[in-house]
Amino acid sequence: MSYGLLKGKKGIIFGALNEQSIAWKVAERCHEEGAEFILSNAPIALRMGELNGLAEKTGSEVIGADATSTEDLNKLFDAAIEKFGKIDFILHSIGMSVNVRKGKHYTEMNYDWTEKGWDISAVSFHKVMRTAWEKDCMNEWGSILALTYIAAQRAFPDYNDMSDNKAYLESIARTFGYYWGERKVRVNTVSQSPTVTTAGSGVKGFGGFLGYAEDMSPLGNASALECADYCVTLFSDLTKKVTMQNLFHDGGFSNTGVTQKVIEKYDF
Ligand SMILES: NC(=O)c1ccc[n+]([C@@H]2O[C@H](COP(=O)([O-])OP(=O)(O)OC[C@H]3O[C@@H](n4cnc5c(N)ncnc54)[C@H](O)[C@@H]3O)[C@@H](O)[C@H]2O)c1
Repeated sequence: MSYGLLKGKKGIIFGALNEQSIAWKVAERCHEEGAEFILSNAPIALRMGELNGLAEKTGSEVIGADATSTEDLNKLFDAAIEKFGKIDFILHSIGMSVNVRKGKHYTEMNYDWTEKGWDISAVSFHKVMRTAWEKDCMNEWGSILALTYIAAQRAFPDYNDMSDNKAYLESIARTFGYYWGERKVRVNTVSQSPTVTTAGSGVKGFGGFLGYAEDMSPLGNASALECADYCVTLFSDLTKKVTMQNLFHDGGFSNTGVTQKVIEKYDF
C-alpha cells in the first residue's frame, strides 16, 4: 500500500546487497512512497550485479562507494548534488565484522580486524554525515538513519565486536545529531529484531538468536519489510521532531523480562 509519504523527497540508500537486505526493502518502500534516490554499496558488492535489478525496478542510479573512503563518499555526494540538488534522507545500512566473519572469538580478537570492522560498521556513519555536512547538502527537516542491534546495550555471545561497533554507532548518531539540529536535520538509529540477511546469518548460532527473540517478543520479530515501513515513517514529515534517539523496532523484545512462552519452556 502506498500513502505518498515521501513524494518529492530525494535521498541516498547505502547497503542493499540482495533481496534479503534491509536496505533493499527500504529502497522498494521508499520508491512506492514516491521518493527518488541513489543506491550505493561497496565496489565489491556491486560486482555481484544484483543491485542493478533493484535500480531498474526503482528507477534509481547505482553509484559505488566504500563507505570508509572519504574520497569515494565525496564523489558520491557530488553526484547526488548534481542529480538532485539538496537531499532529504540518508540510510546507512552497513555492517561487517572481520572477527565474526573469520570466526575469531571475542576474547581473542585480532585488533587489525577489529579496527577494520569498526571503521566499516561505525565510523563510516560519521564519514557519511561529515561529507553531507561539509557539502551542506541536506534540506531542512531532512532525516538520517542508521541500523543497529540491541547487542549495543546487552551482552549477546557471538555477536562479538559488532556489539562494540553498534554502541559506537549509536553514540555517533546522538553526538552528530546534536550538531545537525542546527540545520533542522534529524539523526536516529533503528534497533531492529534479528533478521535473516547475509550480515545477520553470518553470526554464529543465528537460528537460536532468531528463535529466542521471537519467543521473547510479545509482537514477534519484526521483518525486514516491517523495518522498511518504519524507516519510511522516519524519513517522512510525520516525525520531524524525533532526533538523537535509538528507536527499538523489535516487537517489544527490549522491554520484556520474560514471556509466558519462555516460562512454559523452563517450567518443571
Ligand atoms: N540482520 C539482522 O539481524 C540485523 C539486526 C539488526 C540490525 N542489523 C543491521 O542492519 C544493517 C544492514 O544489514 P543487513 O542485515 O541488511 O545485511 P546485508 O548483508 O544485506 O547488508 C550489509 C551491507 O553492508 C555493506 N557493506 C559492507 N562493507 C561496506 C563498505 N566498506 N562500504 C559500503 N557498504 C559496505 C554490504 O555490501 C551490505 O550491502 C547492518 O548495519 C546490520 O548490522 C541487522
